[in-house]
Amino acid sequence: EKIHNVIFQDSKEGSKIVAEEIAHLIKEKQNKRQSCVLGLATGSSPIKVYEELVRMHREEGLSFGNVVTFNLDEYYPMERNNVQSYHYFMHQHLFDHIDIAPENINIPDGTVPREELQEYCKRYEQAIQDAGGLDFQLLGIGRSGHIGFNEPGSHFNSVTRDITLDHITRVDAAPAFKGLENVPRKAVTMGIGTISKAKRIVLLAWGQNKSEIVRDTIEGEISAHVPATYLQEHANTTFVLDKEAASHL
Ligand code: GLP
Repeated sequence: EKIHNVIFQDSKEGSKIVAEEIAHLIKEKQNKRQSCVLGLATGSSPIKVYEELVRMHREEGLSFGNVVTFNLDEYYPMERNNVQSYHYFMHQHLFDHIDIAPENINIPDGTVPREELQEYCKRYEQAIQDAGGLDFQLLGIGRSGHIGFNEPGSHFNSVTRDITLDHITRVDAAPAFKGLENVPRKAVTMGIGTISKAKRIVLLAWGQNKSEIVRDTIEGEISAHVPATYLQEHANTTFVLDKEAASHL
């Protein structure tokens, strides 16, 4: 049930296995009448996982009635109904197509006034613990080595907070925003400490574009320069890669 082999022929094959592990966990928790707390990610990497979960809901009756979700991050400032928002992304790719209770969906709010942001982040962090902690955290990786939006320099024990985005992160996001000048300079993100408390972590990386940061993450020295290297210290993390992303290992 847990994935041990990590290099797949393509992202479709890898995503299917990850979706199956998530579905298995949801059902296991259902049988115990427990909620299943999922940490979710945005970006192109998890899209096929969400597609597969939606298919399982439609065709196999997989229910999300016991699922509570916490998303990793959101741009700041960002309106919820903006097509570039992670709020919009999650509804488009997953939440609008499954039977999750709206009150069980948690996504960092990009509209919180600046002076309330610190307090808001504290509450977001606390809500994860109050829900029982993350049973499973899905991750992508940015070319700066960020997970969530924990950019280089992020501390091992960091918690949910606002952060300034790296140049490379904003450049990678520029096409979606139709120009670098439109990409927000800040974001709200769960911390490395928040993510590291998850009982299980699966990081997805697809394509040649990710091969160097994947190598640095898996084989490099643990360092704040590449925050994803902190995952080396987590006892239950699997990297799910396609052949291209694994090509520099
Ligand atoms: C953004 C997100 C990350 C994501 C990364 C990679 O910066 N905040 O959570 O992992 O992009 O995106 P993609 O999966 O599109 O390569």
